[in-house]
Amino acid sequence: MVKPQKLKAFATYYLSEFPDEAEAAGILLTDAEISRLPSNKQKIGDILIVTIPDSLSHKKKEIGKLLLLTDEKVRLVLNDSGIAGRFRVPNREIIGWRDGKSMSTETLHKENGCKFKLNTAEIMFSKGNLAEKRILTNGCGGETIVDMFAGIGYFSIPIGVHSNPAQIIAVELNPVSYGYLCENIRLNGLEEVIEPICGDCRTSTPENIADRVLMGYVGTTHEYLETGMKAIKNKGGFLHYHETVHEKEFPKRPILRITEAAGKCGRKAVILDQRIIKKYSPGVYHVVIDVKIY
Ligand SMILES: C[S@@+](CC[C@H](N)C(=O)[O-])C[C@H]1O[C@@H](n2cnc3c(N)ncnc32)[C@H](O)[C@@H]1O
Repeated sequence: MVKPQKLKAFATYYLSEFPDEAEAAGILLTDAEISRLPSNKQKIGDILIVTIPDSLSHKKKEIGKLLLLTDEKVRLVLNDSGIAGRFRVPNREIIGWRDGKSMSTETLHKENGCKFKLNTAEIMFSKGNLAEKRILTNGCGGETIVDMFAGIGYFSIPIGVHSNPAQIIAVELNPVSYGYLCENIRLNGLEEVIEPICGDCRTSTPENIADRVLMGYVGTTHEYLETGMKAIKNKGGFLHYHETVHEKEFPKRPILRITEAAGKCGRKAVILDQRIIKKYSPGVYHVVIDVKIY
């Protein structure tokens, strides 16, 4: 029989085909427990991240062992119990490991021709933004780009690798993320293209410099809209504004926030596109609005 990919199907298969090995490894799950196993998992480098429901937390080590059996390239399994604060720091613990292999939660993730080093226990990595990264890597050739909330270079690195921009100024406040941003710039050979700045976007974003500004942050992004607009060259440029919004208020609220901020800094905003990136919480979406600022 072919090894099933989905965790629930894999658990059923493994426990029925290899009951002795499962018992020896201490992997004992009832049918009811198998039905509550998480269906989503995220692989970053050689680390697998899952969210185990509270009702199964007493079985997390068994689930960690089971997940290691699904993929021989996985070195560590982490359980994620949420993300907090302005630095978007995840709360993660190791639930599965291979004897004799490193327990370090740092890994090297390769995606779309780019390398990202990060510590998965301290920093989030949103694979859901892959489509958005692809959109942004089209047509930025020769541009000066300001990447506010740059993180470890989620947007700056793929744009630098694929789009031949003139310059990217990447601003990140969290010193841990900033350290990885600098390392990822080196790993991808972009020292001549990306200028990293460790600081608060509100005070560290340069003015009248950018053909394009990225605002890839959610929660309080609207508070930085005027700063983002001021970074755009006086002759005009593009702004990509992210926020989380209830489906009933999309796209009205983000568009209103953009036009109000433009009015306050004496600019004109023309909405070009609006997209849902992913579901954030029940009824709430992470969205992006593309704007031309004059
Ligand atoms: C969620 S991450 C970046 C997300 C990324 N654009 C993506 O698509 O996955 C947002 C980053 O903004 C940083 N940040 C939060 N507030 C900031 C501020 N005022 N100035 C600069 N960076 C900030 C956080 O530390 C975090 O690294």
